[in-house]
Amino acid sequence: METTLNTPRLDPSWLGPLARVPRSGWGALTSELARTWLAMHESLRHGQRELERLGQRWQARQIDWMGFRREALPLLTAHLGHLHGHHRLEDQHYFPALRRADPNLARGFDLLAADHQQLDALLRSLDGLHRQLANANPAEAAAWQCAHDLVREAQALGPVMLRHLHDEEDLVIPLLALHDQRQAA
Ligand SMILES: [Fe+2]
Ligand SMILES: [Fe+2]
Repeated sequence: METTLNTPRLDPSWLGPLARVPRSGWGALTSELARTWLAMHESLRHGQRELERLGQRWQARQIDWMGFRREALPLLTAHLGHLHGHHRLEDQHYFPALRRADPNLARGFDLLAADHQQLDALLRSLDGLHRQLANANPAEAAAWQCAHDLVREAQALGPVMLRHLHDEEDLVIPLLALHDQRQAA
């Protein structure tokens, strides 16, 4: 079977917590950490949309090179820093704690950790292009190529990141909500 970005990846045996805390109820979560986690992911989605919107304006020639650089540099600084920091916190702190909390989900957390590696490769490429763009000379063709490459790489990041955020939420948010319910009982 061909695997695409839309192919479901979570094993049904991992989805017991999600069946007990379905997405339809996430608007009323009492777990502070679950709400913070979802808000963090929303801000990552927002940063990605901003970057892609700028890329579309560049491709439609609605913005010149200097304008592109002026907007792209701060957007990239914020978005890449945010993603690096978020992954580091998850890898070093939250994922190990959640693995211990529910050993049945170990393979699920392996999958999320592998996503982080795949995302890190895309982020490293964007980090390099970010530095190039900051130092580029617009009189040289390489500066224009850098903008094109950046837009392409940002577009490649989008679907991989969105799939990761969605799958991670399906595993993590119900665990946090159930933990919160047990604490409150
Ligand atoms: Fe993650
Ligand atoms: Fe996350």
